[in-house]
Amino acid sequence: MTKKKTITTLNKMKLNNEKFSALTAYDTSFAQIFDEQGIDMILIGDSLGMVLQGHSDTLKVSIDDMAYHTRCVASGAKQAFILADMPFMTYATPEQACENAAILMQAGAQMVKLEGAAWLKETITTLSQRSVPVCAHLGLTPQSVHVFGGYKIQGRNNDVAEQMIQDAIDLVEAGAQMVLLECVPASLAQAISAAVDVPVCGIGAGVDTDGQVLVMHDILGISSGYIPKFSKNYLAKTGDIRKAVTQFINEVSEKSFPAPEHIFE
Ligand code: KIV
Repeated sequence: MTKKKTITTLNKMKLNNEKFSALTAYDTSFAQIFDEQGIDMILIGDSLGMVLQGHSDTLKVSIDDMAYHTRCVASGAKQAFILADMPFMTYATPEQACENAAILMQAGAQMVKLEGAAWLKETITTLSQRSVPVCAHLGLTPQSVHVFGGYKIQGRNNDVAEQMIQDAIDLVEAGAQMVLLECVPASLAQAISAAVDVPVCGIGAGVDTDGQVLVMHDILGISSGYIPKFSKNYLAKTGDIRKAVTQFINEVSEKSFPAPEHIFE
């Protein structure tokens, strides 16, 4: 019988220094394939606004979109832990966050992911006290693309880096049970992973986070003409979707992905 992975599984992996692997998925068929290959976590990312809906950012994704794709993934993922993104402006207040997180949890998510730093403390406490597990997304938070003025590496400046370490500690203290770091220098991700006792998942965050996540369209080379520096086309290397996923999982576990060429200093 297939055993469902939970946050306890990922906590134990962190304690045992075993790396977990995660991919985005948005439908049942891909979720099933990734699940059968043994992926530890599936993220229903609001990246679907870009890779499925063809927008230039994630801001147009609705809670109904996320609920629909979460239901699709949940019916294909028998063992993987399921994390779902709360889309832009669906968690601007703690009350709104509760209402919208409930929709995703009822669609099959085991945890919801929110982008932001200090201002999220109250919301994270409110959600976790009401039995909604939360992942705090720090670094390059794509919903803030227009604040950043583009998709840029975050945390290269010492003050910003120090602040990000403190934010991670504060958000975990507020109740976050996972941290996701996107596009930050590897040394900063290493410091944050050591500073908090919850699993830290990285994308473009070096090799020392507790787990790695990539967007499925990038590992299959079907993103529109561009693969980010921090990603890798595993389909080109293997010629088969199942083998591509297995190779990604193995390389994460052996710490050979990300390699130096995928890492930001
Ligand atoms: O939306 C998404 O796919 C994400 C990943 C880039 C981490 O948040």
